[in-house]
Amino acid sequence: MRRTIGVVYRFLYAGLLSRLPESVAISLGQGLLRRLPLDRLGWFHQPDARLAITLGGVRLPNPVILAAMYYDPAILSRAMGLGFGAVTAKSITVLPRPGHPQPNLVRTKSGAGPGLVNCNGFQNPGLEGFRAAAASLPHRVPLIVSVAGESIDDYVTLVRELGPLGELVEFNISSPNTKLVYEWNSKPGELATLLREVRGATTKPLIVKLSPDFADVNEREIIPAALAAGVRIVNYGNTRKVVDRRLSQGTGGLSGPDLFPATLENLRRTRRAFGRDLEIIATGGVDTPEKAWQLFQEGANAVGYFTGFITRGPILARQILERLLVDR
Ligand SMILES: Cc1cc2nc3c(=O)[nH]c(=O)nc-3n(C[C@H](O)[C@H](O)[C@H](O)COP(=O)(O)O)c2cc1C
Repeated sequence: MRRTIGVVYRFLYAGLLSRLPESVAISLGQGLLRRLPLDRLGWFHQPDARLAITLGGVRLPNPVILAAMYYDPAILSRAMGLGFGAVTAKSITVLPRPGHPQPNLVRTKSGAGPGLVNCNGFQNPGLEGFRAAAASLPHRVPLIVSVAGESIDDYVTLVRELGPLGELVEFNISSPNTKLVYEWNSKPGELATLLREVRGATTKPLIVKLSPDFADVNEREIIPAALAAGVRIVNYGNTRKVVDRRLSQGTGGLSGPDLFPATLENLRRTRRAFGRDLEIIATGGVDTPEKAWQLFQEGANAVGYFTGFITRGPILARQILERLLVDR
């Protein structure tokens, strides 16, 4: 049955979704996700207790995480019923942001498979809007709230105010599409202060989300500073900055299977260098059960993905969980 659903979705993606203009495909996909009660079908759940993990001391029913992209509570709630062990909300900024103009998302296709390049620009309802909307979200699995700021004050405010809404808090220093966030990587001294201040702003477990564009700085400066500040979880990582003239900004963040070799390498090196002191969510290019399995073999505590949710469909989480159970 899982195989059939996977194959049907691939046809739907190849035959329809990937042929529509991107903005139409997004509206259609998100509309279906909001309206269709897929989570009630039982196809997506794998409740086997052997899959449960703890991340920052929080129990997750399994180690497969939907990466940051959605802020609409209707979609977050639905995603929580689609087999994930935790769901991450989109990065929220202090004030609402309209995001960058269209086109802000385009498809890519390489030998590795279908991917995306986006310059979304943090379209989000802002701190107050998200707080009001997400307050009544039922937490069927843990919610990871994600924040993005320009200044230390922004991050402290966001973490303090949104921390109570999630079981874990991720702070994004890695999206490449705006002046926000990405610049932290070129000032690791200030970043060490940021890490300490943010740690002091919440009692929730913190995750720092890293950029694959800065492997050297991450491993030499940012991860040691995070551990020194008491931030013990990294999400490695975000999209990779690329030039793409089809986008309104001329550059964007590449996601999908082209990222996978670097995700695997970054995980290997980081695990070797930091041992078990660090909990690692490996994100970037996971779109098959086998790739997820490889990341666990290399010491990931959890895996995250977003693009695979679009290109392989909602059944992917369940397929990964079945793969993990084979060798338990
Ligand atoms: C359209 C889009 C929007 C995204 N928005 C965010 C975001 O708000 N915050 C964040 O940390 N990552 C964001 N990401 C990055 C994903 O969470 C993920 O780290 C990245 O896409 C790599 O994983 P993947 O190859 O499985 O997609 C976004 C990705 C896409 C494609």
